[in-house]
Amino acid sequence: MEQSQSPYYTRTAQWLHWIMAIIFIVAYAIGFYSGNFLSYEVDGSFKGSVITLHKNIATVIIFLVIIRIFWRYTHPVPKLPDSMSPMMKSFAHMGHLALYFMLLALPITGCLFSWSAGHPAPVLYLFEIPRLVEANDDLLYIVKPLHIYLSWAAGLLLIGHILAALKHHFIDKDNVLRSMTRQGK
Ligand code: HEM
Repeated sequence: MEQSQSPYYTRTAQWLHWIMAIIFIVAYAIGFYSGNFLSYEVDGSFKGSVITLHKNIATVIIFLVIIRIFWRYTHPVPKLPDSMSPMMKSFAHMGHLALYFMLLALPITGCLFSWSAGHPAPVLYLFEIPRLVEANDDLLYIVKPLHIYLSWAAGLLLIGHILAALKHHFIDKDNVLRSMTRQGK
């Protein structure tokens, strides 16, 4: 990927990053709460409303990730600090690729999970993503655990991503976190 002369991501890339970070964390927390702390037997329709909220927020990621990938491939990115070893740089690239994979895989498996269970995939309580599959127990059997295990892996990746950003900022004292928060003159 082409690297920028500028030490900062473009303003659009920064907005996309932080808006998606907020949506991802909120959707994650709601999904985790519903999946691990609510049951249909005890919480009844409240659980249904919480899952509906999870879906209405999480589906937005699908639209934003498409724009983000397009932007990533059409705009240069700041280069990583020279102080990082080649191994750490490729580790960072692999981590970022894995995060992009999660941003695609989680909403896709989430939609397949809902459709195969016979439910819709609504977006911001405004419209539904057209159903691509009919209710299907065989598919549900695969995509339900897939969505859940992927979400756990994504949680670990996200924690690693945040810790790495904080290490760059507070320990290495380099420009990596600032490249996502500031603009040059
Ligand atoms: C970036 C997007 C998404 C993230 C981060 C995410 C995350 C999660 C998490 C953490 C859980 C709980 C897993 C567990 O039980 O431990 C979950 C459950 C679930 N997700 Fe998602 N999800 C996303 C997208 C979607 C989408 C787009 C849909 C459907 C349109 C969806 C439908 C569901 C459903 C139905 C559950 C089960 C909830 C329950 O059993 O109470 N998810 N998700």
